[in-house]
Amino acid sequence: MSPDTASRVPSPESRSLPIAVLASGRGSNLEALIAARDEGRADIDIVLVAGDKPHARALRLAEEHGIASLALDPSGFANRADYDRALLDRIAAHGARLVVLAGFMRILDGGAIAPWNGRIINIHPSLLPKYRGLHTHRRVLKAGDTEHGASVHFITAELDGGPLIAQVRMPVLSGDNEESLAKRLLPLEHRLLSLAVAGIAEGRIVWTPEGVLFDHQALDQALLVGPEGLTAA
Ligand code: GRF
Repeated sequence: MSPDTASRVPSPESRSLPIAVLASGRGSNLEALIAARDEGRADIDIVLVAGDKPHARALRLAEEHGIASLALDPSGFANRADYDRALLDRIAAHGARLVVLAGFMRILDGGAIAPWNGRIINIHPSLLPKYRGLHTHRRVLKAGDTEHGASVHFITAELDGGPLIAQVRMPVLSGDNEESLAKRLLPLEHRLLSLAVAGIAEGRIVWTPEGVLFDHQALDQALLVGPEGLTAA
């Protein structure tokens, strides 16, 4: 453990929510969470950044910020379930109580995630339930949609199918292409994810047998990102 990491281990009385971030690539959502933590917008302690790609920028970013990082190579495991269980065991060993999938390009095994029900969230660049899976910007353009956005949801065994927490919406403009949509959406994703994680850390957002609750009220639609933060739709 680097000295930097050691200094961030929460004291026993600290109430910051210990989280792990899983990422396979660039890590801009991780950066947004680090900024939210540092600026006091999310009461979180990022205890681990893990991923399947040893050269991912996200893992480098973690190291630069003194956060423990782990690259776990899937090829060393017999199957997906074994890999996922090993990864989640390592995450648990770091004390994380919430796992944030931020550009983690693997589908998690249903059995492996069962003990983590309600404690793993994902950010997805579409207005779910539209466009689960890949190439969301391309599919929005192909469909001629006038609106696009991103979603944060609790994960289940169904790809991009778990209960919605919050969404951010933006118009599709004439002349938009995949690149322009992705570029305009990304900063909105960062705000969405930071707000959702902050809401979970504050105990305002929970997934219970009654559904996703926000301030004790069951949501029948995703929360929306407004100028003041998350609001009921
Ligand atoms: C984001 O668009 C996120 O919605 C998707 O993958 C991308 C990850 O970007 N799941 P980054 O690695 O956080 O920059």
